[in-house]
Amino acid sequence: MTPYTFARGLAYANVVAASERVAWTVDDVFERRRFDASAAIVPASWVGADGLPFLEAEDRLVLNHCRAFSYVHLLRNFEEFAPPHLAGAAADRWHDERARLRALFRFADEEMKHQQLFLRAERALEESCGWTFGGWFDDDGLRVAEVTRALLDHSPLARFLVVLALEWGTQRHYVESVRGAHETDPLYADLLRAHWVEEAQHVKIDTLEIAALAETMSAAERAAAFDELLAIGDLVDGVLVEQARLEIATLAVVRGRRFSDVQRAALEQALHGSLGAIMSGVGLSHPTFAAVARELSPEGAAKLGLA
Ligand SMILES: [Fe+2]
Ligand SMILES: [Fe+2]
Repeated sequence: MTPYTFARGLAYANVVAASERVAWTVDDVFERRRFDASAAIVPASWVGADGLPFLEAEDRLVLNHCRAFSYVHLLRNFEEFAPPHLAGAAADRWHDERARLRALFRFADEEMKHQQLFLRAERALEESCGWTFGGWFDDDGLRVAEVTRALLDHSPLARFLVVLALEWGTQRHYVESVRGAHETDPLYADLLRAHWVEEAQHVKIDTLEIAALAETMSAAERAAAFDELLAIGDLVDGVLVEQARLEIATLAVVRGRRFSDVQRAALEQALHGSLGAIMSGVGLSHPTFAAVARELSPEGAAKLGLA
């Protein structure tokens, strides 16, 4: 039995069964619907620009739509490393329990499906809003290949931890969208729900894999994985800074606005801060992620400020 309490009661066979039960298709989620561009699409708390007095209501609406785009654009590209990461985990123990291998491959396939879902959402947002959004990842796939390579250079434990944090975060995104139902587009909320029901299975696989990997590692090795996690955090943050700037650029074009240096700095700070909160902070501060981190390595958890 695993020495880690956080992994007790979890079983790959149960994950596969649940994954088969909740599976959906991209067409099921969209049902030929569009987003309603006359209203906010994501909760205002995702944008965090309400306190900037120089923005008009129309500016805030455009920024809200930009954020709806940034979220699916970033997730689609950050999740690109998941399939090769999971294939590596399967290849490590190729003749292992069938249920584990099936769980890993379903997980990888679901992530490929999520990428299709998010790409379709990006295009549907552009059609619904009538303009093109700035996205840091290029259509030729050069930047996503670079980020994927950098992530795959990290140890399996660090990679599973970053995926675990991201996936616990998606649960909060859905719950918040339901809580702020009056300000979330119905199609967008359905998209978050569809994503989360599968991510809820993925966190169980991450947890089982983390426990198995950690059992073979010393305390120092486990703590070192948290240094890698911080390095991955820096890498992600670099992308978020650029994506926040692209939101401002999109706002300036769509609304024909010019901002002073002071206004631009305030916008960058607010948008980068809120992007970091929804992409990273929401997962790293999740109580279940924090509990896993503390049990794995108190020293490592302290590095994340989770002591
Ligand atoms: Fe996903
Ligand atoms: Fe996932």
